[in-house]
Amino acid sequence: MSTSEVLKGKVALVTGGNSGIGFGAAKSLAEAGAFVYITGRKKQQLDSALEKLGVNARAIQADVTSKSQMDEVAAIIKSEKGSLDIVFANAGGGSPIPLQDVTEDYFDKTFNVNVKGVVFTMQSVLPILNDGSSVILNASITAYMGLPGFGMYAASKAAVRSFARSWTTDLKDRRIRVNALSPGVVPTEGYRTEQGMTEEQVNDYVAAATKEIPVGRVGSPEDMGNAVVFLASEASSFISGIELTVDGGQTMVYAGKS
Ligand SMILES: NC(=O)c1ccc[n+]([C@@H]2O[C@H](COP(=O)([O-])OP(=O)(O)OC[C@H]3O[C@@H](n4cnc5c(N)ncnc54)[C@H](OP(=O)(O)O)[C@@H]3O)[C@@H](O)[C@H]2O)c1
Repeated sequence: MSTSEVLKGKVALVTGGNSGIGFGAAKSLAEAGAFVYITGRKKQQLDSALEKLGVNARAIQADVTSKSQMDEVAAIIKSEKGSLDIVFANAGGGSPIPLQDVTEDYFDKTFNVNVKGVVFTMQSVLPILNDGSSVILNASITAYMGLPGFGMYAASKAAVRSFARSWTTDLKDRRIRVNALSPGVVPTEGYRTEQGMTEEQVNDYVAAATKEIPVGRVGSPEDMGNAVVFLASEASSFISGIELTVDGGQTMVYAGKS
């Protein structure tokens, strides 16, 4: 899809922009003309992502679970660009664990990155967000599906989807639109690093998932990037407080034999 320069002159922040869906979104935003800041904890991945993104991007090493580090990100963007127009709060993850095996550590880790990280990313950047900005929060289709072992992860993403609605009202006087994106199955590095799947397990999972997806394939970071550009652009200016499900129809449509 050509998104030629619909975001020209805009400044965007993508948390977790050095990998997977975040990188796909950063690439799409840059291709659409925005200057893109990406964050993440891993310096090497940030450097290699930046190399692929080119001159319209900048990487800042920061952990979303640290309010002080996210304040520093906002301070850098303010000093370099003055303000921000687009935020994709994407950093997150989690692995499946059944209820009986959930530990306090696992609970804290999941909610720290997926919930606390989104809250304080937003609080850090609010002072530099322009009126009329677009905020996109990365949720997940797991929030409304009962999937084995995904209880904590799904609950953390349900919180994210809820934030999109509440913050739309909190920020309406500044005409800031807040929407959630709910990706379906998008095989990324996270399947191996976060969920601990082997290559073979990923392939089996993709084959099984494909049968449940009406469009006949799993999603890609580029699919998510296209949706993020749409939600960031004027084309979606009458859309606020929604959850945009980008899953090839998996959660809403029965794809089996009739
Ligand atoms: N892939 C899917 O099927 C799918 C479906 C629905 C929703 N999602 C959501 O999409 C988002 C991206 O996931 P992905 O699949 O693209 O996985 P990924 O490739 O593992 O990317 C995760 C990103 O989040 C960053 N991150 C993780 N913890 C962080 C922290 N504490 N501080 C800063 N950055 C952090 C990682 O960078 P560092 O490791 O360098 O920090 C990385 O850039 C997550 O919120 C995930 O829950 C994914």
